[in-house]
Amino acid sequence: MVRGMAGIAVIGSGNIGATIGAAWRRAGHDVAFASRSPEPPDTVAIPDAIAGAEVVLLAVPGAAVPQLLADHGAALDGRVVIDATNDIGGERLNHADVYAESAPGARFVRAFNTLGFELFENPSIGGDVADLFWCGPEDAGVEQLISDVGLRPVRVGDIDAVEVVDGACRLWLTLVFRQGRPRRLAFRMLQD
Ligand SMILES: NC(=O)c1ccc[n+]([C@@H]2O[C@H](COP(=O)([O-])OP(=O)(O)OC[C@H]3O[C@@H](n4cnc5c(N)ncnc54)[C@H](OP(=O)(O)O)[C@@H]3O)[C@@H](O)[C@H]2O)c1
Repeated sequence: MVRGMAGIAVIGSGNIGATIGAAWRRAGHDVAFASRSPEPPDTVAIPDAIAGAEVVLLAVPGAAVPQLLADHGAALDGRVVIDATNDIGGERLNHADVYAESAPGARFVRAFNTLGFELFENPSIGGDVADLFWCGPEDAGVEQLISDVGLRPVRVGDIDAVEVVDGACRLWLTLVFRQGRPRRLAFRMLQD
């Protein structure tokens, strides 16, 4: 369980990593950005970032996840690993099939993959805060990390609900890329 301010490693500092990492820094977390070509102090090597972290955000191309986990899976032992990646051209959006095999000691979370990064920069539209559907262990401190980005967390279940969460991503991709709706498009859950 992550209590209070967390040490967070962000692997991949493109649109998603840079945006979410910056929001976590603004919220007071200790964030290290990792790169394959580190340029300290802005970015550090992936093993160094993981070593100092309780939480690791995966924000690399989805197709790179199996190799990344094969290379660094053992170092993820005991960490909460938030997988925000989508393998858009792949058979499935996630590579959850390799979690247990490559990083058996990590606690995997599926989050931040269902909306465009523009929403993570500014998570409200017309005064309404966007919901973020996620799954993974309930006691891993993830709802706080989602709230710290300014979104309202909606937990769908344990990590075995990954395909349900990814369904929200497929809905977003369809509305935005097939129908041409704006990328600043989000979902709200209504309930009594
Ligand atoms: N863009 C969105 O709105 C959005 C929304 C939801 C989810 N996602 C998902 O989030 C992930 C990141 O998206 P993005 O838009 O931030 O991508 P991006 O801007 O292209 O950044 C990806 C980063 O990953 C690193 N990287 C590239 N190839 C790699 C490899 N083979 N192994 C390890 N690291 C590698 C690069 O950093 P270095 O070269 O410094 O290592 C790069 O900065 C993708 O899986 C995407 O599908 C994106």
